[in-house]
Amino acid sequence: QKYLTTKNYGKYIRYFETCSSTQIIAHEEAQNGALDGTVIISEEQTAGKGRMARPWSSVSGKGIWMSIIIRPTLTPQQAPQMTLVAAVAVTRAIQEMTGIDADIKWPNDILIGGKKITGILTELQSDPDQVKAIILGIGMNVNQDEEDFPDELHAIATSLKRVVGNPIDRAQLIAKILGFLELYTEMYEKHGFGPIKILWEGFSNTTGKRIRAVMLNETIVGTALGISNEGVLELKLDDGSIRGIYSADITISK
Ligand code: BTN
Repeated sequence: QKYLTTKNYGKYIRYFETCSSTQIIAHEEAQNGALDGTVIISEEQTAGKGRMARPWSSVSGKGIWMSIIIRPTLTPQQAPQMTLVAAVAVTRAIQEMTGIDADIKWPNDILIGGKKITGILTELQSDPDQVKAIILGIGMNVNQDEEDFPDELHAIATSLKRVVGNPIDRAQLIAKILGFLELYTEMYEKHGFGPIKILWEGFSNTTGKRIRAVMLNETIVGTALGISNEGVLELKLDDGSIRGIYSADITISK
């Protein structure tokens, strides 16, 4: 904890050598009243989960697999904005740590050179009109070598070490992530989504591109106009109409 500069985030840290998923443990802790900024972190996950019920590869000792319990004053409708707050915080932390400007692919994939470095999973414990806790899962590929990735990920994922050329101090990087996360969450609570939106747009590789958005029941193609004040991705379809995308898997064509 020697690197931490935060007020609350990371004040309580539960550390595991191995666990099923830090996300599952964080849900239990949040149910049991864990405080704002509590961090669950594990060297390895045996059942790491990604968005849309996908598995998340979490090899031992080389990544950052952590879940943060955040208790902001938010309605469930605002919660997707917290995902974008987190994406901005992680991207700023990578920038400070390595000097590299990563890209954010809507809503929350962080890529370098088109390959995934970090995924973010936002889950809620909520009443109908008030969020009780956000369980923010961050999975970051840090010190993996090529052979640490399963075959199917070689084309689409990479690690910071592979990009930078030398190993990265994970403790220092975690401290930076928590620092920016606390800073931007506070900014968001005080000043709303406006400032976050500007930061997000600055890092986004999505705005202005041709996008294919795969949703549960349909697939649509259009040009990304940017994100709305609610954090919704706005697509201009070829017939000129504008559609807001709340949740989808997107592919970006050049
Ligand atoms: C995605 O891109 O699909 C999101 C991946 C989120 C992975 C992290 S690793 C820490 C936390 N625990 C999990 O089981 N998942 C998240």
